[in-house]
Amino acid sequence: MADCGYDISDFTNIDPVFGTLQDFDELLQAVHASGLKLILDLVPNHTSDRHPWFQESRSSRDSPKRDWYIWRDPGEDGGPPNNWLSSFGGGAWQFDTATGQFYYHTFLKAQPDLNWRHPDVRSAMYDVMRFWLRRGVDGFRVDVIWHIVKDGEFRDNPSNPMFRSGEPPHHSLIPLYTADRPEVHDIIAEMRMVADEFVDRVLIGEIYLPIERLVCYYGRDLCGVHLPFNFSLISAPWNARALAKLIDEYEAALPAGGWPNWVLGNHDNPRIASRVGAAQARVAAMLLLTLRGTPTIYYGEEIGMAQLRIVLDHVRDQVEANLPGIGLGRDGCRTPMQWDQSRNAGFSKGKPWLPVARTYRKMNLNAQRKEENSHYQLYQRLIAIRRAHPALSFGSYNPIAASGDLLTYIRVLGEERLLIALNLGHEPLSTTLTAFLVRGRLLMSTEEDRVGESINQSIDLRPHEGVIVELASTDPSSEREAVR
Ligand code: NOJ
Repeated sequence: MADCGYDISDFTNIDPVFGTLQDFDELLQAVHASGLKLILDLVPNHTSDRHPWFQESRSSRDSPKRDWYIWRDPGEDGGPPNNWLSSFGGGAWQFDTATGQFYYHTFLKAQPDLNWRHPDVRSAMYDVMRFWLRRGVDGFRVDVIWHIVKDGEFRDNPSNPMFRSGEPPHHSLIPLYTADRPEVHDIIAEMRMVADEFVDRVLIGEIYLPIERLVCYYGRDLCGVHLPFNFSLISAPWNARALAKLIDEYEAALPAGGWPNWVLGNHDNPRIASRVGAAQARVAAMLLLTLRGTPTIYYGEEIGMAQLRIVLDHVRDQVEANLPGIGLGRDGCRTPMQWDQSRNAGFSKGKPWLPVARTYRKMNLNAQRKEENSHYQLYQRLIAIRRAHPALSFGSYNPIAASGDLLTYIRVLGEERLLIALNLGHEPLSTTLTAFLVRGRLLMSTEEDRVGESINQSIDLRPHEGVIVELASTDPSSEREAVR
């Protein structure tokens, strides 16, 4: 648990902290029985330093598993073999006194990187995938997939002229030789073949790259991951122009047949409700669920959970300890899910690892189930509307306007045209529809029930309000119908 679970010492078992394989099977069965799917996090880039593979690898230079990890002799000055940096602070090379070589770790030194150039590592990890796929999991979210192969010549990374103080120290180098290497795509294609040995399984790649690089992970002829996670909304400036630009860029960059996806938050980044504010988080939810592509909802987003400030005594994330004060601390978005008003917000009868937000008595799922227009009810309505209107799932995305705080677009499928208008600011807004849109019927608002309100030429938006309008057909006869 050096990295809260991302340091694995046995890939085909359940850590006793969480239960047993039998518990897992029961969970999977229950999940499937309720019509849901379950995917696992696959962590192929590294293991724990306590993994028997690494123990064996470090035991001697002649160990048959020596090359399962990335070992190098010291550089000429006796220091690390090159300038590569860890994403979690400091150098990426750890010296092993017993064997006189350094091993490479992208993350903590307790997380040595596997050597994916070694065929046995590849087949061992593919067997790990098969182990879980055979058990019935519906796929994997693949951890740091763009990192798994490093430069075969171990060239120094160039320095980053854009680096500013206050950024994580590893940003001082451009990770040219440590990530997004061309060879990674052959490996991903192999992973995909493993997933395809089974019916209906998905691979989602964790990738932080600019859009033009990200979309390469769909692979040649779409034989890469099904969904390269699109995290662009997490770092986007929250204004209409910037959002419209990134949506356009992403839509334009997608390969033919590549299915899009959108994410507002995850366990490594500050929560959306704290990034844009509680009121605006409702608009963000409407954006997420009306864009084209698979939306990912991070637990707690559906009830508006905010980032929690974690006092030093309660810090769990070692990265926070390694890099204090640069705002990377990830504990604040990992606090217990707020289920109800009972002790520990109903999360656990034991003592949770992280504190529960003090707001839990009001902000919990149980309370929000009953509360009209709660954050949770909003998510429910958005999901229901998405299901009821295929244009929201499968329709094309057409930008309309993006200026100041107003973002509008339409989703079109056959005759169905849905206009989404979002007010990203705290002032009321009014927008006039262009001639070809003209009129429609309001399907939902983020704020209160305006369902059925007819829209004629202009839409009024309250502060932090988003609406979905079903546009009347452009065919004049059906337009008359809609007005009646
Ligand atoms: C990415 C995960 O999302 C993060 O939580 C973890 O610390 C690193 N990979 C290392 O496994």
